[in-house]
Amino acid sequence: PASATLLPHGDVAVGGVSLTEIADRFDTPAYVLDESEVRERCRTYRTALPEAHVLYAAKAFLSRAIVRWVEEEGLGLDVCSAGELELAVTAGFPPERIVLHGNAKSPRDLEAALRLGVGRIVIDGPSEIARIAAAVGPEGHQKVMVRVVPGVSAGGHEKIRTGTEDQKFGLSLTDGSAQDAIARILGQPQLELTGLHCHIGSQITEVEPYLVALRRMVGLMALIRDTHGIDLPELDMGGGHGIAYRPGESALDLTALARGLRTELGEGCAAAGLAVPRLLVEPGRAVAGPAGVALYRVLAVKHTGEKVFVAVDGGMSDNPRPALYGVRYAPRLIGRHSTADACTATVVGRHCEAGDVLAADVELPGDVHPGDLIAVPVAGAYQLSMASGYNMVGRPPVVAVHEGTSRVLVRRETLEDFRSRDIGS
Ligand code: LLP
Repeated sequence: PASATLLPHGDVAVGGVSLTEIADRFDTPAYVLDESEVRERCRTYRTALPEAHVLYAAKAFLSRAIVRWVEEEGLGLDVCSAGELELAVTAGFPPERIVLHGNAKSPRDLEAALRLGVGRIVIDGPSEIARIAAAVGPEGHQKVMVRVVPGVSAGGHEKIRTGTEDQKFGLSLTDGSAQDAIARILGQPQLELTGLHCHIGSQITEVEPYLVALRRMVGLMALIRDTHGIDLPELDMGGGHGIAYRPGESALDLTALARGLRTELGEGCAAAGLAVPRLLVEPGRAVAGPAGVALYRVLAVKHTGEKVFVAVDGGMSDNPRPALYGVRYAPRLIGRHSTADACTATVVGRHCEAGDVLAADVELPGDVHPGDLIAVPVAGAYQLSMASGYNMVGRPPVVAVHEGTSRVLVRRETLEDFRSRDIGS
């Protein structure tokens, strides 16, 4: 996080709290989340895009506290399950500022969305139209959007590219299924189509793919106006804004993105004679990612013929991202000064498979040993939200730091948690 400062003896403070102290007090592994940084990132979005609705994508990381921070900073929320939705609303988030996504919404998701009164439901496929209309009922009313596939390939890894037609999300522009769906939605009096949505992928570091997608979306809006005589009032360009995971990596330039979207939207709409729709964006990673740090304790060090393995007390159950997407992190030793020469080490977890690697071939001091603390920066997004119960290790706690104080937001998962769910015999 931006607030990270060096303390004596190799310690690091985040949000004014020593990470060594956090490790001692809350034990490891633990995730630290800097409240000021999350809030600051929300503000940066609002300043860069004052004309837009900014929605935080809850899938990156969700807890009741972050719901409150995001709400207080004036953002909306993007959720994709009844679970995320219920947590947010019971934490006090205004349901009308929530958008529900999902390519396969369950009956429970839809029931919760309608009962709680979400602001928008994003229709992802043709079979949802009749289903949602029936659930809303002839006397009801629900605002909806349509997720369109703009045919743009972008994103940090094949598994998180969603802008082309070879993946499961959205309705195609080229085969006419988006146009068909829109016509059918407009024929349902209880559904109010407020606009179009696209999300081309995640961990995108270039502006250009967004602009290509935006031009195609504006083209579709013009077509809708020509066909149906309506100017849709909203255009949601999704999230996917990339961040730097290691020193020297580049992040998406938010100012350039904002400028590009604004210009393209203004010019495209003027050329087509369209009213400029309200823009929506849905960043998740860029709000929460850099605000988090994962803290681990070294349990074992092994020198094999070829490698040095530094095994820590977490692993792929709290961070599956290296295994899933080959993401590279920059772990560092904290809590003591080492004068030893650097060595090339592979930081591994404690799980029962060889793919449980947190960071391959990174530089660590040659004297790294059991008991040392390892911090992994940029751990705030898609780590705990994708954490699993693998090997019954238990998911780590989330500790918020803020102006020199720390508090647990989400407690550690215990053996008792595992035991209490296991009700068979
Ligand atoms: N909007 C929609 C409709 C999305 O599907 C997503 C992410 C976002 C917004 C937010 O994207 P972000 O700004 O956070 O990139 N587990 C993967 C990332 C999957 C993203 C899924 N959808 C990872 O760890 O990299």
